[in-house]
Formats: sequence, C-alpha cells, structure tokens
Amino acid sequence: MRILLFTGKGGVGKTTTAAATAVRCADAGQRTIVLSTDPAHSLGDAFDMELGDLTVEITDGLWGQQLDAQDRMEDAWEDIQSYLQAVFRWGGVDEIEAEELSVVPGLDEIFALTDIKRYAASGEWDTIVVDCAPTAETIRLLSLPGVLAWWMERLFPMGRRVNKVVSPLLGSVTDLPVPGDDVFAAVERFYERLDGVKELLTDRTVTSARLVVNPERIVVAEARRTFTYLSLFGYSVDAVIANRLLPDAVSDPWFEDWKQRDLDHLATIEEGFAPVPVLRAELAPHELVGVDRLRAFGTALYGDDDPARHRADVSPMRLERTDAGDVLSVDLPFADRDELVLGRRDDELLVRVGPYRRSILLPDSLKRRQVVDAALRDGALAVTFAPTR
Ligand SMILES: Nc1ncnc2c1ncn2[C@@H]1O[C@H](COP(=O)(O)OP(=O)(O)OP(=O)(O)O)[C@@H](O)[C@H]1O
Ligand SMILES: [Mg+2]
Repeated sequence: MRILLFTGKGGVGKTTTAAATAVRCADAGQRTIVLSTDPAHSLGDAFDMELGDLTVEITDGLWGQQLDAQDRMEDAWEDIQSYLQAVFRWGGVDEIEAEELSVVPGLDEIFALTDIKRYAASGEWDTIVVDCAPTAETIRLLSLPGVLAWWMERLFPMGRRVNKVVSPLLGSVTDLPVPGDDVFAAVERFYERLDGVKELLTDRTVTSARLVVNPERIVVAEARRTFTYLSLFGYSVDAVIANRLLPDAVSDPWFEDWKQRDLDHLATIEEGFAPVPVLRAELAPHELVGVDRLRAFGTALYGDDDPARHRADVSPMRLERTDAGDVLSVDLPFADRDELVLGRRDDELLVRVGPYRRSILLPDSLKRRQVVDAALRDGALAVTFAPTR
C-alpha cells in the first residue's frame, strides 16, 4: 500500500496534481482513494463533481472524499474540552476566554490524519492520495501527532493507563476540578485514534510526500523550507513536481525571458531538492478540470510509469543535541571526504561533493548559529552548530 501526500504553496497546482496522480493510479489497476484535508476543499472542482464527507466513486477504481475534520473533532474532543474549560475557570479565567483557551489550534485537522490511518488499516486500498492544505498548514499538521502526544502526556499524565483511583484522591486534597470517567474515556479514545498515525506517515516504505512548485522564486523558497522541515520531522519526500512550465511549443519572442526564467528556476530546484527527482509539468492551454484532462496531465507527468512508485529513498535529516552543540546529520552515501566542500550562505548550507551540489536550507533554530564542526562519518555528513547560550 502507498500513501502519497501532495503539498506546496497556495495555488501551485496541488489539487490538480493529486487528482491527476489518483486518476493514473486507478488506470493502472490500483484501488485508489483521493482525500482532501484542506478545509478549503477544491477536489470536487478539479473533478467537476460534488464531493463530500462520504466516499464517492469518481471513475472506475477511483474514489474520493473531502474530509470534514470539524465534525470529527466535535465528536472526539467535546468531553475533554469541557473538562479543560472547567480547569481554566477554576484558575480564574472567565467563561469566554476559557472557551477560547480550550481550543487547540490545528486540532481539527489532526482528525483528517486519523482518517488516513483508518483507510490504511482497512486493507481496501492500494493507494491513498492526499491533497493537503498549503505548506505552512501542512507542516503544522504533520508535526501535530508528536506535539499533541507531548501535550496530552502532560495534561493527562496517566496517559494510556488511566488510573481512576487517582481522581478521588486528587479531589480530597484540592478543589481542582477532577476529570470524570467521561473525560478519561475520551482521552483514551483520543490516544487510540492518534496511535500509529505518525508511525504510518513516517514509514518511508508506505508514505511519500510530493512537493509541487512553480518556477517562481518565492514558491521555490517556501517549498525548500517545507522540504527541510518535513525531513526533520522524519517524513520522506520522493518527488518534486515543477508545474506550469512554458511548453516548447511557445515560440513567441515575447515569452523568451519567461522561458529563460523557467530554466533558471529549474536549475535552482534541481540543486535545492537534490537528490530528490524533479518531474516536469507544462502549463496547459486550458483549465485542468474533469477526469479526461486530469488523465492527460497525469500521463504527461508520469508517462507509462507507475505513478505511485517510490521515486527516491532519501533518509530524512536528523537533529541531535549534544554537549558540543546541535548536530545536523544528512546522509551523503557516495561522498568522499577528499571531495567534500562545505559552505555557508545566510541560512543555507552548501554542500559540494565532486561535481554534485546540494544546498540545504537550515531550520529556524540553526539559522543564526555558527558551524563549529563538520565531519563525514559512515556515509553521513554531521554538521555541528554552536550551542545556544
Ligand atoms: N499545469 C497547469 N496548466 C494549466 N492550468 C493549471 C495547471 N496546474 C494547475 N492549473 C489550474 O490552476 C488552478 C489552481 O490549481 P490547483 O487548484 O490545483 O492549485 P492548488 O495548489 O490546489 O491551490 P490551493 O492552494 O488553492 O488549494 C486550477 O484552476 C487548475 O486547473
Ligand atoms: Mg487545492
């Protein structure tokens, strides 16, 4: 089974490429479902049909659904939320503020992820294609399983092994509102739903993210940031899709500069995402709406190749804290120590190994820190950044 996540800056063509990929997967005989987690759903528009919160057959072997995360959250979170509100009120927070505070940002979206887990577990699908929200939200979304687990452990330290004996004890020593059985049951249900989501999405044999970009500076810069963060969170990116390139057939001299611009940006894209392969998609002469047009777009993108195939197996970056500072490790399996040249340009780390260039955009936490050491060990480059004071 494969899970393909499509993300990129707003308007770059995420929905279009996700939908086209799904059509081609179904054409190849894979039982395919395409889901959108973006609250601003437009998957239905791409297929030119009504899609809702129930799965609908789009064409032979292809099903689709626009997940309504809000509904699911209200189900699962209500009991926990009212308890939190009671605690906030107990702490002197007024009614309205308590209500606001008990809303965890992004929590609704996490339920979209738990739906993906449910589909994956059902065994009914060969390929699950996910049309994600624009990058910033997607990064937040994909970091949520980890963040939320941390939050819940602290809020409900009994965690999975809910110890009901604790509540009456708590009640007798303080007048802090004690969570009732309904709250504990809700916490348990919540853990169950969250359990395994991160494992599934960071399992590189199953899940790959694909980044959609246009040949524009800001779009590429944002996608590179996303690439860095996805790598750090352990998600694997197996392809970049450069969309809306001017076709060769456009020969009007007016477009000469635009075509040169495409080439320049393609070079930056190749370098900034290496060793992840870059797939190219041209600007179509019409809107890409409906199964037939999406199929043609998907065929141009993947040819006869299996669209769900793993296109790259790049290990994620790792960030570890040591006494010497924070160590960022990146796999460079073929690098030879003598050939390695390391440079730094603002928030970029430039790595050159013989003829190959790779530039890694640093995460915020490392941007302003000095590199104090770099070493090539067992096929991985380890760069140490000075500790923060
Ligand atoms: N290669 C292309 N050629 C022509 N039109 C395209 C191409 N790619 C996308 N489009 C059109 O651009 C519009 C936006 O594309 P799409 O909805 O796929 O972007 P998106 O990244 O999902 O946007 P959003 O961030 O709003 O979800 C659509 O009308 C789509 O048909
Ligand atoms: Mg979209």
